[in-house]
Formats: sequence, structure tokens, C-alpha cells
Amino acid sequence: MVTKKIVFSGVQPTGNLHLGNYLGALKNFVLLQKKMECIYCVVDLHAITIFQKPDILHENVLETTASFLATGLNPDKSIIFNQSSVSGHAELAWILNCVSRIGWLNRMTQFKDKAGSDKEKASVGLYIYPNLMAADILLYKATHVPVGADQKQHLELSRDIAQKFNKDFNCNNFFPLPEPLILKNISRIMSLRDGTKKMSKSEESDYSRINLKDTADEINKKIKKAKSDSDSIPGEIKLLENKPEALNLLSIYSELTKNSLEKIITEMAGKEYSFLKAKLTEALIDEITPVGKEIKKLLKDKSHLKKILKKGTEKANILAEENIKNIREKIGLI
Ligand code: TYM
Repeated sequence: MVTKKIVFSGVQPTGNLHLGNYLGALKNFVLLQKKMECIYCVVDLHAITIFQKPDILHENVLETTASFLATGLNPDKSIIFNQSSVSGHAELAWILNCVSRIGWLNRMTQFKDKAGSDKEKASVGLYIYPNLMAADILLYKATHVPVGADQKQHLELSRDIAQKFNKDFNCNNFFPLPEPLILKNISRIMSLRDGTKKMSKSEESDYSRINLKDTADEINKKIKKAKSDSDSIPGEIKLLENKPEALNLLSIYSELTKNSLEKIITEMAGKEYSFLKAKLTEALIDEITPVGKEIKKLLKDKSHLKKILKKGTEKANILAEENIKNIREKIGLI
């Protein structure tokens, strides 16, 4: 059986999209839109698994939409919409809550990280969040899911849920098993302050990340302050094994300049990290500040952003309703 290739991915509207989101996910979204049918979603229902102030959430949904457009997503090519406006996501999530197993969810490391030490106080939504993610993907029978490495475990769970549904309801291949598309070298951009932690919206210090809306001056200051290494740049990648901050800066530079890490290291061997930092600052300013300016410009016309979401919702709903109808039939719902 030939399965139609469909790409689905989501980004949480929790403010401050950063270089990790950009290199690990958004840039790949844009490349894929040239080759396949793509659906990109602002996952507002995922965001509320941790309390969000309503007015800030509202603004962040629009800002994430603006970030999609500013990085190059084209609403005439890709379906761009917000999750809560297509009710099939919540409906399928409930059905999948009944397919997914508690033992599977108990293994999710992101829940453990996000819930912190007092798990009893975490929302139930945060715990079953990966089931909603599976629903997002399976609602459109997506075959490919571009994400950063931090989402790999959730993707594996989505595959397990799809497989169990197909088996339980005796419908082999009904849900295709979604393939994660994880870029090799930059699937995990690390914090600028601690190379063992991923760059994240939730880390307290703004110096830990480059935000898409940062000005040239802010980028300059953040890279100057970024942790690197007191030794000079080594001539071999394996000598960076225990130097995660240095490896992170070099990997980001390699990605931005589209040169292999080997080539960068050979060229810079023996130089101080201040040399790399100056070059990296320049490359970041060239790549990121135009995106930030475009986000700010797009945010001046919120009704335009809402119109784009509305149009995307209409398109997504057509696909979702058809699939939900078939899913309900498979289960025996009337
Ligand atoms: P979110 O909103 O945390 O992140 C959006 C995307 O950015 C990637 N990412 C990174 N990539 C590299 N380095 C980093 N430091 C980094 N930080 C974030 C994430 O891997 C992600 O691809 N649960 C998802 C959203 C979601 C989703 C989905 C994704 C909901 N439903 C269905 C795919 C399919 C999340 O919280 O991503």
C-alpha cells in the first residue's frame, strides 16, 4: 500500500522562540514545505498543561504564528493553524488516552523534568501531554514529523499508540507509523550558560539563549558572555568530547555557515574562542535579526495573523473531520 507523505509538526506558544527552535525545527519546516504536504500547528492546548495567563497566551499564539511566517513558512503552501480551533485534536486525544498505557507514560522523561520534584502538583494534562501529541500527528495520518531530539521519545510513543490502535481495532496500516525527522548535528542546541542543558524557553537566564527577537546588540552581548573553554580550539572533534559549551558554539557556527564541523575545526585549530565568537556573532546577526524584525513587523497587524490562522483552521478541519469520522467508525462509536 502506498501511503501519502504528510508532514506534521507543532510548536508551543510559550513565548521567546529561540535559536534551538529555529535550527532544530523551524528551518527544517521551511525546507520540507517545498517537497511535501505540510501541516504546522501552534499547539496552544499543549501550552496550557502549565498555567498560562490568558492575555499572554493570546499574544503568544499570534507571536508564534508570526515566527512561522517570518522564518519562511508560506500559508499558501503549508497549513498553518492553532490546535484548539480544530476540535478533532481534543477528541482524538481522549480516544488515544484509552489506547495508551500508564506504563508507557511513566517512562516519559520530559514529564519528569517538567513536573519537577513535586509530581503530585503537576496537572493531569502535563502527564498525558504525549497522548495529545500523538493525536496531533495521527489526526492527519502524518507520516513524517520534523522535531528536535528532545521530542524523540514522544515520537516513539506516538508510534506505539498507532501500532496498538491498528492492532486493537484490527485495521493494519490504518494509522501510518510516523517517522521522526531529526537533523543530525543540530538536533539539540545547548544552553549558552551550561552545555549539558538544552537551550530552552523556560531557563531563567535570558543569557542562556538567543531569542529570535534579539537585537544585534543583545546577540553580541550573549555570545561574548557565553561559556566556551580556556584552551584554544583543538584540531580534532574528539578533543571536544568533554567540552560541551565549546562544541555547541562550533556546531551552531557550522550550521549557520553550512560548513562541516570538521572543516570549521581544521580552519580554526589553535585559535582562541574569542575568534570563533566574533565570527559566530556576525553569522547570527545576519541570520537572526532579519527574522526578528519580520516578527515585529507582522505583529503590528494582528488581524492579518488571525486571518491566516482562520484559513489554516478551515483547511485542517476538512482533513481532521474526515479522519475522525473513520476513527469513530473503527471504534464502533455511533
Ligand atoms: P516545543 O514547543 O518545546 O519546541 C518546538 C520545536 O523546537 C525543537 N527544540 C529544539 N531543537 C533543538 N535544540 C533545542 N534546544 C530545542 N528546543 C526545542 C523541539 O524539539 C520542537 O521540534 N511537544 C512539542 C510540540 C508538539 C509537537 C506535536 C511536535 C505538540 N504536538 C506534534 C511534533 C508533533 C514541544 O513542546 O515542542
